[in-house]
Amino acid sequence: TFLGIDLGTSGIRLLLIDDGGVPIGSAERSYHASHPHPGWSEQNPSDWIAALEDSIAELRDNYPQFAALRGIGVAGHMHGATLLDNSGRVLRPCILWNDTRSHTQAAHLDAKKPFRAISGNIVFPGFTAPKLEWVRENEPDIFAKTAKVLLPAAYLNYYLTGEYVADMSDSAGTSWLDVGNRTWSNTLLSAGNMRQDQMPRLVEGTDEAGRLRRALLDKWGLGGPVSVAGGAGDNAAAACGIGAQNEGQGFVSLGTSGVLLSARDGYHPAPETALHTFCHAIPGRWYQMGVMLSATDSLNWLARITGQNPTELTSKLDGNLKKPGTVRYLPYLAGERTPHNDAEIRGSFTGLATETSREDLTRAVLEGVAFGLRDSFEALAATNAKLDRLIAIGGGSASRYWIQLIATTLGVPLSLPKSGEFGAALGAARLGITAATGLAANSVMSLPEVRETIDPDKGLTSTFDDAYQKYSSAYLAIKSCQ
Ligand code: XUL
Repeated sequence: TFLGIDLGTSGIRLLLIDDGGVPIGSAERSYHASHPHPGWSEQNPSDWIAALEDSIAELRDNYPQFAALRGIGVAGHMHGATLLDNSGRVLRPCILWNDTRSHTQAAHLDAKKPFRAISGNIVFPGFTAPKLEWVRENEPDIFAKTAKVLLPAAYLNYYLTGEYVADMSDSAGTSWLDVGNRTWSNTLLSAGNMRQDQMPRLVEGTDEAGRLRRALLDKWGLGGPVSVAGGAGDNAAAACGIGAQNEGQGFVSLGTSGVLLSARDGYHPAPETALHTFCHAIPGRWYQMGVMLSATDSLNWLARITGQNPTELTSKLDGNLKKPGTVRYLPYLAGERTPHNDAEIRGSFTGLATETSREDLTRAVLEGVAFGLRDSFEALAATNAKLDRLIAIGGGSASRYWIQLIATTLGVPLSLPKSGEFGAALGAARLGITAATGLAANSVMSLPEVRETIDPDKGLTSTFDDAYQKYSSAYLAIKSCQ
């Protein structure tokens, strides 16, 4: 058996799978992030460990197959800075991906030429390098004691193996990695006042990072040996879970935020469009993704202010896709990442009329989110990504209308997987398989079974293209009046 660990922002999820990759059972524990000041978001790594140990105990109690564990993979929320002293002790709470305190430091680093050129990405405030600049300026004692900086998944690797080791996909989100060459960049490290000896050893996500420590083998009642994989950042792990590993394979995720992710055979950075370009957890592969910050959150907001629930709103639209209405919605409730990289921008409705109904607003919101995803799609297409078909996942994919609308707006068929496991925990467990068995990634990272594929409505393509052009031009207009 193999174990996938998904260390998420609000909790941990463990998934046990059998030797054929079929799920056996799972366990979950939640924990909190603390926000001691506006824009701050921190977690104590000891909470991760407590949640992990509790979940392991539950799996052991419920599934005798746990005793046959051979491999583990860890997926983690990305970009977080866990600082350790020279005896491996945690120096301060981990500063998370959604912590924005270091926006000034991020802008400062981003303005230095090598960062975009070598890391392939904008230095976003949530990324790791600016966090360390913030610590250097504000907590100099802690900065001076920092012997190692580990991302959340690498911290779990350390707990599991006793070794400082991280995978390429997660390390790509630090702003210290040469993402094209898959190695730490001394240029970026020194520009960020860091040293290579403070970084963990790098391995591919599919490789063995180390073996489960003796003390844990004993505590968990295992004979061993148990391989621990390099692991992955959560998005790369999700790509492994859904089988997106080669050029042209990707997914649209309609969650709180919206993600359009595509696996790439080569390295094609495009930081100017605020695309993320990261190493994949699979050797010789990268992935690119566009992120829009308010996807289902836009619909949730409309539901809240109209006293409905989101499903009530979308169920009124069931049936065939209608051509775009005259009301436009700009989905910038919390700013936008791709393509604008604009934390200040806020959303808008345009084209309201006396006869505009709640249903019109619902359609406008769904269309605005679809257009936001098209922005990411266009950014990807400009790097010659080949996206012939995408898998649709996330809570929003329950609305057939929305999926039809997105398929038509992007001009790509969207496949809905059958219910089951295909998330980051499964991806992490699959990395546990490759690390323990040496099997090739392509024999392990299979695509999910598809329930239904929804094609674009070709008759509406040109009207949606027109509406998208209008949507695109509205960004600068609303920006100028805010
Ligand atoms: C990716 C990102 C998030 C985190 C949290 O760039 O910031 O997806 O990994 O899940």
